[in-house]
Order: sequence, then structure tokens, then C-alpha cells
Amino acid sequence: MKKILIINGPNLNLLGNREKNFYGDTSLERIKSICEKKCAKNKMEMEFYQSNHEGELLEKIHSVQNDYEGIIINPAAYTHTSIALLDALRATTKPKIEVHISNIYAREDYRRKSITSESVNGVICGFGENGYLLAIEAMKKLIYKDQ
Ligand code: DQA
Repeated sequence: MKKILIINGPNLNLLGNREKNFYGDTSLERIKSICEKKCAKNKMEMEFYQSNHEGELLEKIHSVQNDYEGIIINPAAYTHTSIALLDALRATTKPKIEVHISNIYAREDYRRKSITSESVNGVICGFGENGYLLAIEAMKKLIYKDQ
């Protein structure tokens, strides 16, 4: 079974209570649970991780090259600021997908630029919690290339 890592950046632990107009009612626990089911259906194991600390996120991304077959990441606000996250993502050759719950291109100017997306295979944004499920499907295609 192929194992993937799903990483969530700062403030995503507050989902469900945070700016519901952008992020809806869903909680991170719920996203974890629907991702678990989707991965199981798609012949993948997953680890689901969240941190509010840039250094911890970097170290987790470093582990991808040896320990996982791919990474799905919602870098949250670090999307727009972190060259360090970009460099860490660049350092892994494994498939990488960036996800955003909201449509970052329909929001403030400072959210319309994603620094981290320069390093990923593709970006899914604006579909709420379903974006994670779409990313898992896309990851399956990248990992099991023949299906
Ligand atoms: C987000 C969008 C970011 O701009 C924001 O800082 C977040 C969440 C999203 O999932 O829509 O924290 O990544």
C-alpha cells in the first residue's frame, strides 16, 4: 500500500469556528475522516498532519522523500509568504499537490500569489473540503501511473 502525507498549515486547526464565510462549517477532524475513507478506497494509506509552526512543517516536508509516495499540502498563510516551504517542497521529487479550501484568486490581492505552488504538480482551490478528496484522486493517478 502506498502511503501519502497530507499536511495542513497554520490556523487550519481552527476550521469550523474560523471565517465560516470562506471555510464553511467543516472541521479539520472531519476533513481527516473523509480523507481516510477516500484513501482507503483508492488503495492508499495516509498520515494527516497539522502544525502552526513553520519549522515543524519544514521538517515534515523533509520526511516525504524517504517515508511517503506523495504529499498533499494546504500551506495556509505560508502559501503567500514562505520561500522556506517552497525550497523544502522543491527538495522532494515525489508528487506534490497544493490544496486550498477557499478560492484564493477571488480574495484579497495578497492571497492571489502562491509562492509554494511553483514547486507542485498542481493546485486545487475553491472547492471547500472536497478539494482534499479531488487531490487524493489526482494523487492516485500520479502514484499509480497506469490507472
Ligand atoms: C487557505 C487560504 C489561505 O490564504 C489562508 O491563509 C488559509 C487557508 C485555504 O485553505 O483556503 O489559512 O489556505
